[in-house]
Amino acid sequence: MSTDLEGVDYAAWLAGSGESAEVAIPLLIEAVAPRSAVDVGCGLGHWLAVLKEHGVKDVLGYDGPWVDRSRLLIAPPEFAVADLNEPLAVKRRFDIALCLEVAQILVAGRAESLVETLVALSDVVVFSAAVPGQGGILHENEQWPQYWAELFADHGYVASDPFRLRLWERDDVRWWFRQNMVCYSTLEALERHPVLAETRCAGAPLPLVHPGCLDQARGDAAEPQRARRHWLGIRR
Ligand SMILES: C[S@@+](CC[C@H](N)C(=O)[O-])C[C@H]1O[C@@H](n2cnc3c(N)ncnc32)[C@H](O)[C@@H]1O
Repeated sequence: MSTDLEGVDYAAWLAGSGESAEVAIPLLIEAVAPRSAVDVGCGLGHWLAVLKEHGVKDVLGYDGPWVDRSRLLIAPPEFAVADLNEPLAVKRRFDIALCLEVAQILVAGRAESLVETLVALSDVVVFSAAVPGQGGILHENEQWPQYWAELFADHGYVASDPFRLRLWERDDVRWWFRQNMVCYSTLEALERHPVLAETRCAGAPLPLVHPGCLDQARGDAAEPQRARRHWLGIRR
């Protein structure tokens, strides 16, 4: 199992995930009204903790053994260790699966089996993955949405875009979620969830770049030493 993430300061890395979730989860509940949720690459469990605040009691988060369990925001039995670079043994289905800003960290050869895992977990997958040039620690596989949409399409899942337009100007949501957070679901799920049907994409979700992403890329290019200190600070 990879140990590259062992020295990462998760509190610094995931600062803003909870605040973002507070804003985005009500939209997700409005769209899907889940009673159960799984988060693949949940970090400290920020998104599941907010789902629980909104009454979703049945939650499970997967992440690596390097996550400091004493800092989890979900209960210990709600967290399971997994190496997402290996296929996950899926034991049950959930109303919704989240996979947020994780896919780009996994090796490219793992992309197909990550998507297989997500579709095995739920009919509705809320998915956010870094675009090319986004930057971040240990990014192995930054891709435009088309790449992921094609992998989901292989399983009959279609794309909807119910969040990005509504979150685009929310400064209390981190720009990577505003830019990247879309939804892939089965056609049956579209019938059950009108919001997903109404926001269905013609093909892949639009490849968008948020001004926050551009600002960061320009700042990092102008001040590479500062950028290096920032990322090394997070990696300790
Ligand atoms: C950028 S963080 C996102 C965390 C969370 N989804 C959020 O949005 O707050 C990426 C997460 O992916 C997890 N991750 C990356 N590679 C992994 C692997 N091979 N196995 C398990 N988890 C992994 C990291 O530990 C980290 O929690």
